[in-house]
Amino acid sequence: MAEDMFKEFREHSVAEFFKKNRQMLGFSGKVRSLTMIVHEFTTNSLDACEEACILPEIFVEVKELEGKDHYRMTIKDNGPGIPFSHLGKALGQMLAGTKFHRYIQQRGQQGIGAAACTMFSYVTTGQSTKAKTCYNGKRTIADISIDFKKNKPIITVIEEGPAEETGLEVTSEFKDVRYERSNYGVYEYLRRTALANPHCTITLIEPNDEKTVFPRSIEKNPSKPFEIQPHPLGIGPHDLLEFAKHSKENKRISSFLQNTFARVSAAKVNELKELAQGIDFNKNPEKLTWDEAEEIVKAFSQVKWIAPAMDALVPIGKEQVEASFNNIFKPDVLVIAERKPRVYRGGIPFMIEVGIAYGGGVVEAQKRGEVMRFANKVPLLFDTGGCAITETVKNMDWKRYNLKNFDEEPIVVLINLVSVYVPYTSAGKQAISHEEDVMMEIRNALMEASRAIQKHISGKRKANEMATKRKVVSRYIKQLSSDLAKLTGTDEKMVEKKLEELIDEKYNRGKEEETEVHEQNERIEEENDYEDREEA
Ligand SMILES: Nc1ncnc2c1ncn2[C@@H]1O[C@H](COP(=O)(O)OP(=O)(O)OP(=O)(O)O)[C@@H](O)[C@H]1O
Ligand SMILES: [Mg+2]
Repeated sequence: MAEDMFKEFREHSVAEFFKKNRQMLGFSGKVRSLTMIVHEFTTNSLDACEEACILPEIFVEVKELEGKDHYRMTIKDNGPGIPFSHLGKALGQMLAGTKFHRYIQQRGQQGIGAAACTMFSYVTTGQSTKAKTCYNGKRTIADISIDFKKNKPIITVIEEGPAEETGLEVTSEFKDVRYERSNYGVYEYLRRTALANPHCTITLIEPNDEKTVFPRSIEKNPSKPFEIQPHPLGIGPHDLLEFAKHSKENKRISSFLQNTFARVSAAKVNELKELAQGIDFNKNPEKLTWDEAEEIVKAFSQVKWIAPAMDALVPIGKEQVEASFNNIFKPDVLVIAERKPRVYRGGIPFMIEVGIAYGGGVVEAQKRGEVMRFANKVPLLFDTGGCAITETVKNMDWKRYNLKNFDEEPIVVLINLVSVYVPYTSAGKQAISHEEDVMMEIRNALMEASRAIQKHISGKRKANEMATKRKVVSRYIKQLSSDLAKLTGTDEKMVEKKLEELIDEKYNRGKEEETEVHEQNERIEEENDYEDREEA
């Protein structure tokens, strides 16, 4: 009955929502769930170390316990630790943390990951999570779980004392998960994390007690990304009203705009005033109405802005990608393309870096057409199908680059998207959404890197063809020299030498390469035209 329907009306918390929909956080499938747990904790450790300028050392132990699909995970870092005042919320409350509200390149951005692991542990084992935090000289060991109805942490202190070191150690039990050394397992996840973060040392102890250390190859932290203000072009009316509501320190709309958003100078405020004449820029921003916010956003779109600060972004880096790739594959060719930063959605800075390894050790590693996706240096192992990176790679016309069938070639492509806000498709943070500007830039980066691969492949193919032809023709030299010597009454050795010189001349590799490079350049120029047209 219609009148009975609303007897069922209830309110729910975000914790209850994700408890019911844990697949949205990536907790689906036994192997994947275990990898997601490691993913959440290692990304947190790397972010914390980066922020505190500490060279990261991460320890991961996976222990199999009695019972089906039952494991204990310990993840420990040497970061700054978490102050006790924030420990409960950091590990036991969803949508709480130091990252969601900031425009800064970090691995985490939602404030859900750690509490999601506490939740997953509790719902599969009924156990709370044990955390040891050493922060600012103080050590606290506590048990943490979640009050799902309220989305609030339940925290019990077990031990307190002084601490000489800093860092966070979390131990939790999980069921419904499985350890496996597969392409989707913890080992591969950490191997790729090490590849994109050569400044960190990761130790893994697997359930069979095998210990693997992925040692750092660089003894220095990469430069630290810095926080930027939101750019006016990425702002909608609702965002503007929200910022205005919390802008207690600014008494006028004009100063609020200058102090809150990037690139808004006094001169720009004057331009905005010209465009939005109905608005009193001297009034308190708290009094801004929806219509006025819409008018200001419209004016934002009509003003010419300087792009957001692009040096806020820190890629893995050309040398580091080179070192990591050479370390793992020792390929025949290795090309890195690091593109200039750009913006998507009008005002969010991002940058693409691409590394392509071809042949050599890639063949030995039995890799074929492999795409390694990363976002802010975090490996993305899952949801391949729905990801803008995969789709762009798939849609590339690889034949133009002498790669007949991408999936069959000995090629590994690394693509890293760096941004102050990564447009993930879901809270599980495993796939990039189909942002047009981002996809276009991935394509351009792939095209740039692929040209050098194309050159290499066609050079190699030509050289092989020449070598085969030379071999075939050379078979006849002996017989031909002896016959010619007899017919002409000349010295056989001399004829043989002359014939060899003739063959050398005919199959001269240097000359072939020259024409080939010439052809390549013509083709590259054509492509540049195409790219320029597209960019225009
Ligand atoms: N190892 C750690 N060291 C120091 N602080 C940490 C650590 N792990 C988590 N935190 C703090 O706890 C907060 C919550 O972590 P959580 O993983 O839930 O969210 P997040 O990393 O902010 O975003 P995301 O949900 O995208 O991972 C973080 O924002 C950070 O402030
Ligand atoms: Mg996190």
